Amino acid sequence: MNLAINARDAIADEGSLGIHAHTMNLDSDQTFSYVTLPAGRYLAIAVSDTGSGIAPEVRERMFDPFFTTKPRGQGTGLGLSTSLGIIRSHGGAIDVQSELGQGTTITVVFPIVTDSLQTTHA
Ligand SMILES: Nc1ncnc2c1ncn2[C@@H]1O[C@H](COP(=O)(O)OP(=O)(O)OP(=O)(O)O)[C@@H](O)[C@H]1O
Ligand SMILES: [Mg+2]
Repeated sequence: MNLAINARDAIADEGSLGIHAHTMNLDSDQTFSYVTLPAGRYLAIAVSDTGSGIAPEVRERMFDPFFTTKPRGQGTGLGLSTSLGIIRSHGGAIDVQSELGQGTTITVVFPIVTDSLQTTHA
């Protein structure tokens, strides 16, 4: 939800917002923003926009709690830091690709679990 709202906010007048899901195989360890994932099979969900793109100085701080470039009352700056926490707690990662003036694609990567969940009964 936060990624989609961020994408919408990055588009000034008119543009496109896309949400795509695909599976992804990592042959070796791969480092994303703050996280290195081991080789394996993953599900990637990419949220892309044709908006403003992200300036390098914003890129450096965008995952910091309370960092926002939005006007007072329009953003708390907690969206991405909370997203990163949730994603990491599921063994996943987040990747940022952005071209200033062209747009941004933020990809969330989760490990695919094939074993069924084992529950223990008393
Ligand atoms: N798709 C995007 N395009 C351009 N800038 C982005 C994009 N996504 C995030 N940002 C930048 O990262 C900053 C932090 O994003 P984050 O979601 O953490 O907070 P926010 O959107 O400002 O506030 P909140 O999520 O609390 O409403 C944004 O203020 C914006 O500057
Ligand atoms: Mg946000």
